[in-house]
Amino acid sequence: MTTKSQALLNWVDERFPLTSTWKAHLSEYYAPKNFNFWYFFGSLALMVLVIQIVTGIFLVMHYKPDASLNASGVPVAFAAVEYIMRDVPGGWLIRYMHSTGASAFFVVVYMHMFRGMLYGSYRKPRELIWLFGVGIFLALMAEAFMGYLLPWGQMSFWGAQVIVNLFSAIPLIGPDLALVIRGDFVVSDATLNRFFSFHVIAVPLVLIGLVLAHIVALHEVGSNNPDGVEIKKKKDANGIPLDGIPFHPYYTVKDIVGVVGFLFVFSAVLFFAPEGGGYFLEYNNFLPADPLVTPPHIAPVWYFTPFYSLLRAVTYPLFGLDAKFWGVIAMGAGVVIFAFLPWLDRSPVKSIRYKGPIFKTALVLFVIVFFILGYLGVQPPDNGGIKDRTTQICSVLYFAFFLLMPFYSKMDKCKAEPERVTS
Ligand code: HEM
Repeated sequence: MTTKSQALLNWVDERFPLTSTWKAHLSEYYAPKNFNFWYFFGSLALMVLVIQIVTGIFLVMHYKPDASLNASGVPVAFAAVEYIMRDVPGGWLIRYMHSTGASAFFVVVYMHMFRGMLYGSYRKPRELIWLFGVGIFLALMAEAFMGYLLPWGQMSFWGAQVIVNLFSAIPLIGPDLALVIRGDFVVSDATLNRFFSFHVIAVPLVLIGLVLAHIVALHEVGSNNPDGVEIKKKKDANGIPLDGIPFHPYYTVKDIVGVVGFLFVFSAVLFFAPEGGGYFLEYNNFLPADPLVTPPHIAPVWYFTPFYSLLRAVTYPLFGLDAKFWGVIAMGAGVVIFAFLPWLDRSPVKSIRYKGPIFKTALVLFVIVFFILGYLGVQPPDNGGIKDRTTQICSVLYFAFFLLMPFYSKMDKCKAEPERVTS
């Protein structure tokens, strides 16, 4: 550094903790040296968050949340998205980056969560990192759901209609709650405006706040790793973990590899299959919303379908409350149950590398069940036929994975965890 730039840095440091923050969170933040492929997804989630915010800002410059019909008889909101796609220079790219980015976000976050499950990253002392993560996941679902209403296409309209109606199944307060969410008796211009407001400002603020808390909590306790051993337990004379390396430059550089790999795949999808064969943007959503014509088959976007299957699995009333109510409970519980993982897993070791055959089998089964539920969630129901029965069996297995975990994780035959990281 030249004396002038050093002097400038000193001037700043006396007024703002720039150098100390840089050191604490990057150049002197010691991360385990054995991070693997699965550790790319945290930084990728951060990058996708930035992509969504930046593309979102540009979309808002041209979009109008207005359900009234224009001179051609098309809803203004729908026409605004078509205008972005056809007339705004580069608009199609920005819009597809945002809509395909939503799916990419869920791919990345699901991989990130799965890494946590593989290596027991939710276990003590990282419970709060995990809980902030579950909060992020909930906020992300709300964000995606509300964003999907904005193009005001057929699936936007009818999807919102179906999901908001679910709230009316809650005893006593349900119908009023649904009314408050919609701002009307049916999904309407009022709904579009409040969803717009939540999508562009309220939920993103919550998301950013939670992500900050997530990373601050992570840096307080330090990262876990594929061996699940605590690197802070073995330090050198200077108090530096023996198995730790400075995050910068080692992992800042390594994360670039992940970013390049991700952008390669993301661009391929973006330029060659931005609608993801009807899975990222459903074909019915290229038709303007029409309250008088219900599409023959209404299914949510792929990232919601495992949970949507849990909702549809419940077909019997119980304790005088109808099946719809219990379906909503099952769907909500299917998400919230992740929050309890730190206390459900009683295994003596953290990482899957040292866990026993029962836990490994349970995790593989869980992943298979999650995929089957995801697939069945986009299929039309078959009135108690093979698909509906499979949905019910898989839903039971889904919850069994969590609820039986205290027992099978305890009785499993684990291998001894090593003292130091192995690679
Ligand atoms: C916007 C979404 C998210 C962002 C930007 C984000 C960001 C990050 C980053 C940058 C890291 C450190 C790098 C790494 O370990 O990969 C991390 C770690 C972690 N995240 Fe997230 N995260 C998000 C969502 C989630 C969710 C939904 C969960 C779980 C429900 C979660 C659970 C964890 C855990 C347990 C760790 C510590 C992992 C370890 O040390 O092994 N995160 N996150």
